[in-house]
Amino acid sequence: MSEKDYEILRQQVMALAEENACFIPLMSNVSALVMESMKDLNWAGFYLTTGSEELVLGPFQGKVACIRIKKGHGVCGTAYEKDQQVLVKNVHDFPGHIACDAASLSEVVTPIHNASGLVRAVLDIDSPMEARFTETDAAGLQKVCDTLSQMIRWEVE
Ligand code: SME
Repeated sequence: MSEKDYEILRQQVMALAEENACFIPLMSNVSALVMESMKDLNWAGFYLTTGSEELVLGPFQGKVACIRIKKGHGVCGTAYEKDQQVLVKNVHDFPGHIACDAASLSEVVTPIHNASGLVRAVLDIDSPMEARFTETDAAGLQKVCDTLSQMIRWEVE
């Protein structure tokens, strides 16, 4: 997807957030939107921080996935610990990768922050293709997640 495509995706996410910014419906619809907008994905969804140094599975599209990931473990736990986006071209080269779906070969994980700037969730996008995600994908997804961080509300309403 081009930079322009990611701007369209970001605007679609904004429109969803304007309709309902509660994290449950918003993450559910964003995972569906990502899955239908991007080619060659096998999993797209969220893990949320729990307050006890781990992530718990949130809304997603794809196969049944691991429920808890410790901070610092796997790609998601690394993005959480480092508080930065992690792009992995081949998960077999990433020590400690957690294989929820053996088909996953590349992935990009991007943190989402609360109003205090703390990591509150990550967006995990996986592909069965090696090196599926380019720097353009990473930059576009970063902007989508920055918009989510600004608009999402963490209370159920
Ligand atoms: N890929 C993740 C695990 C989550 S599943 O792939 C959905 C990781 O290594 O953190």
